[in-house]
Amino acid sequence: MIERVVTGIPGLDEILGGGIPRRNVVLLSGGPGTGKSIFGQQYLYNGLQRGEPGILVVLEEHPVQVRISMAQFGWDVRIFEEKGSFALVDAFTAGIGEAAKREKYVVRDPGDFNLLIDVLREAIKEVNAERVVIDSVTTLYITRPALARSMVLQLKKVLSGMGCTSILVSQVSVTERGFGGPGVEHAADGIVRLDLDEINGELKRSIIVWKMRSTAHSMRRHPFIITNKGIEIKADEVIRVGGGIRE
Ligand SMILES: Nc1ncnc2c1ncn2[C@@H]1O[C@H](COP(=O)(O)OP(=O)(O)OP(=O)(O)O)[C@@H](O)[C@H]1O
Ligand SMILES: [Mg+2]
Repeated sequence: MIERVVTGIPGLDEILGGGIPRRNVVLLSGGPGTGKSIFGQQYLYNGLQRGEPGILVVLEEHPVQVRISMAQFGWDVRIFEEKGSFALVDAFTAGIGEAAKREKYVVRDPGDFNLLIDVLREAIKEVNAERVVIDSVTTLYITRPALARSMVLQLKKVLSGMGCTSILVSQVSVTERGFGGPGVEHAADGIVRLDLDEINGELKRSIIVWKMRSTAHSMRRHPFIITNKGIEIKADEVIRVGGGIRE
């Protein structure tokens, strides 16, 4: 029996055969507005409720804004930050601004990958993190695509080595068929893709598990919804969105 991390996202554990195999690094890819950030935040908050500490590395949004957005779903992380079982790693502000001065984990130069790794390791050690979400890894290598694979491999070494089960958010453009580039896609232990497709004049959300090392998983595309409680996947429903993963 392999150990699994229960995501607690309704429907997701069913389609994953019980959860994400422990220590896997999962690429969560999707276009803009597909729900990647919400997915990652829900995964972390569910962990906190189960007594599994977590880290959220933010590269795209101000940490203050992230706490506010999470609280809107009922995921108030401040108490867990005070207890020391959750930490936000600020790789967004570079420490600039009044609010940033109150952040505990700040990557002073978000362009310095080694520095980010150092701050991340320290945060993981201090909170004893079992779950890590990086939102997004695309931000790390968008201006230096040749480094994407080595960055993801290094992250994997650190995250998996420290016992974490992780989600790397990967941004793809609306029309892109892939998940974030060949180097990255093969380096990841799992790939989950979120999609938004216009069907009969309406945008429909769907999720597909493209790969997940160490487990069998659903091979179907399932619809999901986002409500004020977060993501809810319809594990017993299948949705068609054209011929391939994206036509
Ligand atoms: N309370 C809510 N109820 C229903 N849907 C919501 C709610 N809050 C946000 N959404 C939906 O979630 C979307 C944003 O999701 P999210 O921020 O996770 O996207 P993302 O994939 O991270 O996008 P990006 O790549 O641009 O960061 C919004 O565009 C909206 O459609
Ligand atoms: Mg996002």
